Amino acid sequence: MVYTLACRLRPAMHCRRRKVSTLWKARVSSVERSLLRACFTFPSLVLTQRASLVVRPLLVIFVLIGMALTAPVVAAQKVQLSVDGSKAGAKIDRNIFGQFAEHLGRGVYEGIWVGPDSPIPNTRGIRNDTVAALKAIKVPNVRWPGGCFADEYHWRKGIGPQRTVTLNPNWGGVIEPNTFGTHEFMDFLDQIGAQAYISVNVGSGTRQEAAEWLEYLTTAQPTTLAKERAANGHPAPHNVAFLGIGNESWDCGGNMTPDYYLTQLKIYSRFVRNFNPAQQDRQQMLKIAVGPGGGEPRWTDWTETIMKAYQHHQWSWDLNGLSLHSYTVVKWPPSYASVGFGETEYAQILKSTLDMDDLITKHSAIMDKYDPQTKVALVVDEWGAWYAPSPGTNPGFLVQQNSLRDAILAALNLNIFARHADRVRMANIAQMINVLQAMILTDKDKMVLTPTYYVFKMYVPFQDSTFVPVTFDAGTYVHDNISLPRVDAIAAKGKDGMLWLEVTNVDPNEPVEIELNLTGITAKSAAGETLTAPKVDSVNTFDAPHTVVPKPISAKVQGGKLTLKLEPKSVTVVAVEQ
Ligand code: AHR
Repeated sequence: MVYTLACRLRPAMHCRRRKVSTLWKARVSSVERSLLRACFTFPSLVLTQRASLVVRPLLVIFVLIGMALTAPVVAAQKVQLSVDGSKAGAKIDRNIFGQFAEHLGRGVYEGIWVGPDSPIPNTRGIRNDTVAALKAIKVPNVRWPGGCFADEYHWRKGIGPQRTVTLNPNWGGVIEPNTFGTHEFMDFLDQIGAQAYISVNVGSGTRQEAAEWLEYLTTAQPTTLAKERAANGHPAPHNVAFLGIGNESWDCGGNMTPDYYLTQLKIYSRFVRNFNPAQQDRQQMLKIAVGPGGGEPRWTDWTETIMKAYQHHQWSWDLNGLSLHSYTVVKWPPSYASVGFGETEYAQILKSTLDMDDLITKHSAIMDKYDPQTKVALVVDEWGAWYAPSPGTNPGFLVQQNSLRDAILAALNLNIFARHADRVRMANIAQMINVLQAMILTDKDKMVLTPTYYVFKMYVPFQDSTFVPVTFDAGTYVHDNISLPRVDAIAAKGKDGMLWLEVTNVDPNEPVEIELNLTGITAKSAAGETLTAPKVDSVNTFDAPHTVVPKPISAKVQGGKLTLKLEPKSVTVVAVEQ
């Protein structure tokens, strides 16, 4: 327990103690300490009235001067980072910054689609504000229509002038109007400049239905389906970059065994073709199989089964990616609050999110056995924090707030993906708008950008950059017997030729002073942005949208070294100028 002093110059000059944080203690200089010690040593010192008239104000002045002089001298933890600019690793694929938009709650309806007759400004029914925000973070791909929803989705109900109204039994049992269907999704992608990642229905659909959907989307030939597509407003074939073959087929996607799913995978891979002429030799559609949902034997068996089959696969089927789903939840059902929590929950959630690294390492090792050339990507197409539903919301809508903790969580995961960039070439945070760890929250015509959104924005220069190894001693942050690395960092050479550095200070109490030693590069300066906020659970709301927003930061250069002071609980991205 740490105490500091509030020396009260009452007539009898009492001194008393008040509890404060350790941080404050670090600010107390030796001058100040001597004064205060004197105050403690003689707690009931009674001065003559005359002397007290002179001494009292002097003491006050000394103490205040002492505090003012020493206030900036916060005992920052020092961390040395070394980056060798001549060393290059794997490409950090832009697709690891992918998004996931399921027909779930208010993610698609309200978040993206408001309809052409809505008073909310829109382009062909798609709201303009969320499109503009998503364009700014350069979303590379969007996974759609699910999720569990995908294995109950029948695409024909979502095309043409007459839409079939169905139900969404997975998510609240609400009406699914099917007004947002294939054409609306592809229009949305065009508006935000992203590529399509379509998950086809393996659970309750047929291979014929999936094959016809892809023909409808991609053929340039005048087939009946292509003519129907043209009649519905899109004569040109679409580009479908990624095809997901089912979703969580071990669970909501049909509770299949690995062998049963493998049989489905081979058939779908063979028959669900992309006919777009521009995607034949180059830019071929990548096929992504359902992969594991954890690290237990059930999941390692799944990865073994798929990858073993892949090793000797024949010409008639192929695989380019294996999906991995992992939420930061600590325990099911999700019970952590998304706002109104303290340091313990902050530390627990961040500790739990770091398990992503072990999970990727574990499944990558299996993949390495059967695919040493890393042809098959590990696609983390559902990740993020999953908390208890916000009070008063439909629990089936998975509504949660998004705090500074989520920003830090996002940075830690993106860094893990970057460190595994040779195998992890795609990821999709769950989910884009109004659901789980969202980028954006909307309420009717209002929109707010979350702390996680800003992390994705700050990381844009890492899209398609080249990983550069960073070495550092992370130190340890301990709270309530929970210990985790104090600092995390990645570096990369951007497409713009700059060296980009990200450093996260996980510690919510102590600042960190980074000293960057660069080899192979003569740094002139470094500047960028840092994201922090007053509290670990600070959030942006419709009424106060700028509580957690990035602000500029710059580094000092001295003797060829860069020093950068990081605030507690912060995410910082800087470009190093040479
Ligand atoms: O993202 C919410 C749900 O989580 C998805 O629909 C499902 O794939 C996963 O279990």
